Amino acid sequence: MLVELGAVGYTYLPRSEAAAQALADVSLTVGSGEFIALIGPTGSGKSTLVQIMAGLVKPTSGRVKFEGNDIWLEKARLPERRRLVGLVFQEPEKQLFEMTVEDDVAFWPRNAGVSAEAVPEMTRAALEAVGLDYPSYRERSPFTLSGGEMRRVAIAGIVVMNPRVLILDESTVGLDARGRMDLAGRIRALNQKDTAIVMVSHDMDEVAESADRVIMLAQGGIVFDGPPREAFKQTDLLAGIDLELPQVARIAARLRRQGLLGGRLPLTLAEIESDILTAFGKVPE
Ligand SMILES: Nc1ncnc2c1ncn2[C@@H]1O[C@H](COP(=O)(O)OP(=O)(O)OP(=O)(O)O)[C@@H](O)[C@H]1O
Ligand SMILES: [Mg+2]
Repeated sequence: MLVELGAVGYTYLPRSEAAAQALADVSLTVGSGEFIALIGPTGSGKSTLVQIMAGLVKPTSGRVKFEGNDIWLEKARLPERRRLVGLVFQEPEKQLFEMTVEDDVAFWPRNAGVSAEAVPEMTRAALEAVGLDYPSYRERSPFTLSGGEMRRVAIAGIVVMNPRVLILDESTVGLDARGRMDLAGRIRALNQKDTAIVMVSHDMDEVAESADRVIMLAQGGIVFDGPPREAFKQTDLLAGIDLELPQVARIAARLRRQGLLGGRLPLTLAEIESDILTAFGKVPE
């Protein structure tokens, strides 16, 4: 296992009047190459949980392991582990601090002893992996970019470290539909190159298209952990935490009520297309 959380709990401002328990008894694992969607209502503890997974916040109780070793018992190796489990924050603009896009993305390689000749190529590759053209963006100030471009630069700053686990905290919020689809495709491409992905998302269409495992949080605890098709069968659970089914599944449910579609619950555009073609007696390509 890459990351392993055992009975993790977290309380903000412990021992004070304002103490707030954000997580209780959370156990989960992240295996190599997985694509996990972390979903749950606002305030359910998603951001707290991913900061703990990335080794940025120490849990108040429980253990966090990376490849079997308790990361808080080996503090000397924390920086290396923070590189291997990279987190793009919910507000990525907070992650940008250099004068140019190039300096920002090159920050880690320059400080990690990568040879000076190799840095521009790594920077170019990381920017291209998130869909930004290196020559056009390298000299720009991160603070003159649009929200979507900032998000991409912040992701590139993590991708450049070649993490084993890439955690994205609502990184596609605020992008237009095309930008969201484009970025989702690029994240899937990173996953296909064997980077495990943990994606915090409120967008169930995005979850259905990309994830192969869904972890549902409610009030600081895991209420479901399994494949998306199982997750979206939990209609009571989803309604209880104010989450909608993916649009494709909602359309399929209406067609089913009319007796027009049976069989499995389609979750992605490709699946519903194939089911509708089959219903019309056509052979899907
Ligand atoms: N700095 C903080 N101090 C005190 N309480 C906090 C702090 N940050 C978060 N909390 C509380 O911890 C709980 C979990 O917050 P968290 O940010 O992890 O939720 P979330 O699931 O990421 O929500 P969202 O979907 O809105 O981003 C909430 O009740 C929140 O109010
Ligand atoms: Mg959050």
